[in-house]
Amino acid sequence: MKERLIVSLDLNDLGKIKELVKGLNGLVEIYKVGSIPFIYFGKEIIEFLKQNQKKVMLDLKFHDIPNTVARACEGAVELGIDFLTLHASGGFSMLEEAVKTTLLSAQTKKLNRPKLLGVTVLTSIDEAYFKDLFGEIKRSVTEQVIFLAQLARSAGLDGVVASPREVEIIRKECGKDLLIVTPGIRPKPSQDDQARTMTPGQAIRAGADYIVVGRPIIKAEDPVTAAKEIIEEMGNGD
Ligand code: C5P
Repeated sequence: MKERLIVSLDLNDLGKIKELVKGLNGLVEIYKVGSIPFIYFGKEIIEFLKQNQKKVMLDLKFHDIPNTVARACEGAVELGIDFLTLHASGGFSMLEEAVKTTLLSAQTKKLNRPKLLGVTVLTSIDEAYFKDLFGEIKRSVTEQVIFLAQLARSAGLDGVVASPREVEIIRKECGKDLLIVTPGIRPKPSQDDQARTMTPGQAIRAGADYIVVGRPIIKAEDPVTAAKEIIEEMGNGD
């Protein structure tokens, strides 16, 4: 199960990040670098993770015009990362262009290409907020997630990022080959900003390929024990 756990390094302290990664050695193989560590430490954090033989999910959630996203994808290939995120809501042309450019760039430079993941609807958004955000719309959050997952798949993306609560329906609607990565994981009920959550075991049982866990590990008093408990719970299925 441990190779299906992605730990999110949402910290602005490089010393702490290095300490965490070293402490979790042997337990955690993939780290998510999002906008917080990337804005502070840029390439340095990616180089550090690669030197320590870790896989990297660069979670900058690109959402821009197709040309800008495509050029950013070319740069991401050079970083030697393993997963890259972009917002599926950026539209078919943006997604398709990103897929083409990433493939071509990796082939030309003889580098590994990152797997592209389309973010569907953020796990912090619930049904009530979704209505506030878009006014009178015809789709529910779940319908919008399915729409975006199908869009991502048809544009050639490798997978999607979605809440664990939508994993089962995405599997049903999009088949078994689409990778599903799920944040919004909480080992216990919590009061923070995640709205559509599940436990690690529930998410795996629902069909997630990878789960992303941030605060329950990086803010834990004992991150190693927290990670071990989560990995064990992933295997229990519930
Ligand atoms: O601390 P926590 O476990 O809530 O961290 C979840 C991570 O997953 C954060 O880095 C957040 O940016 C990210 N994420 C998310 N929902 C998405 C996509 C990414 O929470 N749909």
